[in-house]
Amino acid sequence: MSQTPPSTATPASSTTSNDANTMESTLQESRMFAPPAKVAEHAHISSIEQYEKMYAESIENPDKFWGEQAANLHWFKKWTRVLEWELPDAKWFVGGKTNLCYNAIDRQIDDGLGDQVAIIFEAEGMIDGKADVTKLTYNDLKREVSKFANVLKSQGVKKGDVVTIYMGMVPQLAIAMLACARIGAPHSIIFGGFSANAIRDRVEDGKSRIVITCDGSWRRGKVVPLKDNVDQALTMTDRVDTVIMYQRTKQGAPVTNGRDKDWDTLMADASDDCPCEELDSEDLAFILYTSGSTGKPKGIMHTVGGYMVYTYLTSKYTFDLHPDANDVYWCTADIGWITGHSYIIYGILPNRVPTVMYEGAPDTPEKDRFWEMIERHKVTKFYTAPTAIRAFMKWGDDYPDKHDLSSLKVIGTVGEPINPEAWIWYNQVIGAENCPIVDTWWQTETAGHMITPMPGATTTTPGSCTRPFFGIDAAVVNSEGEEVETNQGGILVIRKPWPGMLRGIYGDRERFHDTYWSKVPGFYTAGDGARKDENGNFWIMGRIDDVIVVAGHNLGTMEVESALVSHFSVAEAAVVGFPHDVKGTGVAAFVTLKPAHEESDELRKKINAHVAKELGPIAKADKIIFAEALPKTRSGKIMRRLLRDIAAGKEITSDTSTLEDRSIVEKLQAQA
Ligand code: PRX
Repeated sequence: MSQTPPSTATPASSTTSNDANTMESTLQESRMFAPPAKVAEHAHISSIEQYEKMYAESIENPDKFWGEQAANLHWFKKWTRVLEWELPDAKWFVGGKTNLCYNAIDRQIDDGLGDQVAIIFEAEGMIDGKADVTKLTYNDLKREVSKFANVLKSQGVKKGDVVTIYMGMVPQLAIAMLACARIGAPHSIIFGGFSANAIRDRVEDGKSRIVITCDGSWRRGKVVPLKDNVDQALTMTDRVDTVIMYQRTKQGAPVTNGRDKDWDTLMADASDDCPCEELDSEDLAFILYTSGSTGKPKGIMHTVGGYMVYTYLTSKYTFDLHPDANDVYWCTADIGWITGHSYIIYGILPNRVPTVMYEGAPDTPEKDRFWEMIERHKVTKFYTAPTAIRAFMKWGDDYPDKHDLSSLKVIGTVGEPINPEAWIWYNQVIGAENCPIVDTWWQTETAGHMITPMPGATTTTPGSCTRPFFGIDAAVVNSEGEEVETNQGGILVIRKPWPGMLRGIYGDRERFHDTYWSKVPGFYTAGDGARKDENGNFWIMGRIDDVIVVAGHNLGTMEVESALVSHFSVAEAAVVGFPHDVKGTGVAAFVTLKPAHEESDELRKKINAHVAKELGPIAKADKIIFAEALPKTRSGKIMRRLLRDIAAGKEITSDTSTLEDRSIVEKLQAQA
């Protein structure tokens, strides 16, 4: 299983196969990138042999591996057993007592690090042309979090009560969530881009009687009316009796009645003394809703001990965090997503590295905002999403080129498969061919990274998330659970429990069972298709539902999309199947063009010829639909089920509440 890294970080070669019979795995991306010496030299995991040895130990003796790792964190009482496993129910660190907030904040203060910066917050708006930056030390955080924890208690919140949080990306969001963790009240954070209906649904499902919000949040210089959305939601449910509002924008939205309370007023009177609740390892830490492709959102449950250990360890190794080497870490996600929960707050703070929180949009005031921030804060570890990377590519290299990005050491991506084209751009333009890219595959349900490179050890290949994290027994199988052959597409499963695994869907045991544990008996099914190559590297092919069978061949939508995006005129592409008289299923490609390229039939032909060259004629699109933009969820995922309906010429009947911009769909329908 060992990899032979090439001697330099330059691509070795790239080959593609045109053989339609091997269509499941035709995009044979084979450029390899060894870990740059500047990272490998000092990395926690500094060679592939070290990774392989630790990985083998973690799989052979998980109790020993996880017990030793958990012992690096603070426990009020040590566990008696590392794991109790009765499929599908796992209990980790059984009998242990701990607290996520203690490990995020107090543990650092105990060790004399109270004055170190924990959070670097940058507001979207500038003050006199200068960045508006607030730094919070661990001491600051402990004071504010303790006060807000006392505020929650004063409002009747007790251990076990679900607290709904719907705020913008401001420090008060971090403070509110950590305050919940401090007193053992599970939070249910709703992304600030969601609408009133989403709030109503989550409040109802979580049986939450309190909502923490802001008057509004800043986005591209405009106010997002968060409090208005809460007010509207609460006309549709009478479950909530208390709303606490932080005045961020001060643009109206006054506190109006007995139900609504003002954050600052409550904080002014609150004591800053609030010891952490000693929680059981398996107490509920939070609920986070994830939208399924069908049906209502699922409230994914994570518990205290396992979530804490798993996010701490994945943060440490995947981003190779070193508090004593001036690391500054920035994840551009919103805290309303699992990426923000795990990799802005809970996994990063216990690693003692400052975490950057940015309030606003990447193109405000200009399209170089992210690069300006990396330069300003000397960010060393940067984590973003393929959808953002594709937007940066479209905006052009001039924006990053204006800035000194030399502080960067590790750059990461998450959320979707990253097309090789975008990977190469990220490597060259942002990483200066000297930063390993960690393409991290994981899910809301997994709490943390599952398949990911170790930046100082793993040789990477564009488009592959490489190899499993410690303790993760990942495999590609058929529906009987048998491993498929090398490079054959199959179902991605996890065969052993891990500390960060979801503990259920809130209030829906049956759905938990059906969604994750019934498709391949005995294993956790992620819902993704994947293949594993001869080096043991995993390649995510997309959601299982997204695989298209054309004339008897399996096409991973991801592979066709990557071929499309590798054409010089294409900025972004989404591929779906549609009913086709002859082939059974045809390929429809929705394509956005780079600036300065005109839509034409001629261009359609050229793009298709390119796809045929890259993947084989079978992958040619039967329809290419040019689009100004693709329909995406608010977290940036392309909504293929809508595109499937559009391509098939059907009415859209499925739920569109998570869609960012509805007008895009109407424009596409007019064309398809
Ligand atoms: O399909 C996979 C895709 O995103 C799904 C999980 O989405 P969510 O729960 O919203 O969590 C996003 C943040 C972890 C997965 O089932 N996905 C995520 N990361 C990758 C990915 N697909 C390919 N490569 C990735 N690195």
